[in-house]
Amino acid sequence: DKGNHRHFMAKEIHEQPEVVGRTLAHYVDMANGRIALPEALPFDFAKLSRLSITACGTAFYAGLVAKYWFETIARLPVEIDVASETRYREPPLERDGLTLVISQSGETADTLASLRYAKAQGQHSLAVVNVPTSTIARECSVVMPTLAGPEIGVASTKAFSCQLTVLLCLAIAAGRARGTLDAARERALVDALITVPGLMAESVKLEAEVEVLSREIAKARDVLYLGRGTSYPMALEGALKLKEISYIHAEGYAAGELKHGPIALIDETVPVIVIAPHDAIFEKTVSNMQEVAARGGRIVLIGDAKGAADHGLDTLATLTMPDVDPVVAPIVYAVPVQLLAYHTAVFMGKDVDQPRNLAKSVTVE
Ligand code: F6R
Repeated sequence: DKGNHRHFMAKEIHEQPEVVGRTLAHYVDMANGRIALPEALPFDFAKLSRLSITACGTAFYAGLVAKYWFETIARLPVEIDVASETRYREPPLERDGLTLVISQSGETADTLASLRYAKAQGQHSLAVVNVPTSTIARECSVVMPTLAGPEIGVASTKAFSCQLTVLLCLAIAAGRARGTLDAARERALVDALITVPGLMAESVKLEAEVEVLSREIAKARDVLYLGRGTSYPMALEGALKLKEISYIHAEGYAAGELKHGPIALIDETVPVIVIAPHDAIFEKTVSNMQEVAARGGRIVLIGDAKGAADHGLDTLATLTMPDVDPVVAPIVYAVPVQLLAYHTAVFMGKDVDQPRNLAKSVTVE
């Protein structure tokens, strides 16, 4: 049932404040401002020397964001790869180490094969999955569910934001176990998490603006997405979302990589979407925006009021997001990134819920 929406994808984007809120309620002890995981862990975060993450597609990008969180919040080194590589690379994995797999469907063949490989190496396994009855959920030693509800649109949206939510809760729990964050910092992070559903609801209000912008994006043959820090995986996710449903060629890059190649592509025909909340590295991203502007590139800034006031450049559009704590920014910024892909594809008359050549669940490699 699509409710009042034209497509499942639209419904699922709009549902995010609710399902992220529901997921949070499952992981957060609201009264005490701390994380309370729904299940005991069969391993100790404090004893891990590293964490291995593996997943495919959008779930992999959620894992890439989580790498920043686990490393900064819990000082836990993270190794991450796409599951199709993990399974054949056969990386050395320590006995009693931890492999984290992320999957909406819980049936993705490569992710499942990587999980089985990790278990055979004597690793503990933790799954962040949306389908609790899935094969991956059954085979993992512990499951941390996303409570996104059934996701019908082939392009993952609400499952992604719920994955991010669970992963941040896990990183905070890991930080507590490893003694890298005190109660006050945990409370501050939990306070930031609690603001997320409301901020996502506010971000949905940018939809009319995004729709106007999407008509411009629809004319492009190539689109570049740039971001730094946790906005880098968001750039990858933005490019994936756009290409899979609109069939416009899109690439995501770490903003700092611009001069190492992709800058050669910049001209007035290639929109450059810059994902940049006003965080500690915002100024670095501004210098990349200047490089784009100097070559006649047309910039779309997805940022906040502070950033928009600071950069002083002409943009094709600026989507002014609400102020967010930079730690939780990827969850909130998922909304405009998804809306832009959605409206561009709808404007182009594409079948957004059933894009060509794609399946919701990739059960063969
Ligand atoms: C993109 C998308 C895919 C999936 C990938 C993994 O929008 O939906 O990239 O994220 O196929 O699927 P799951 O999460 O079911 O393992």
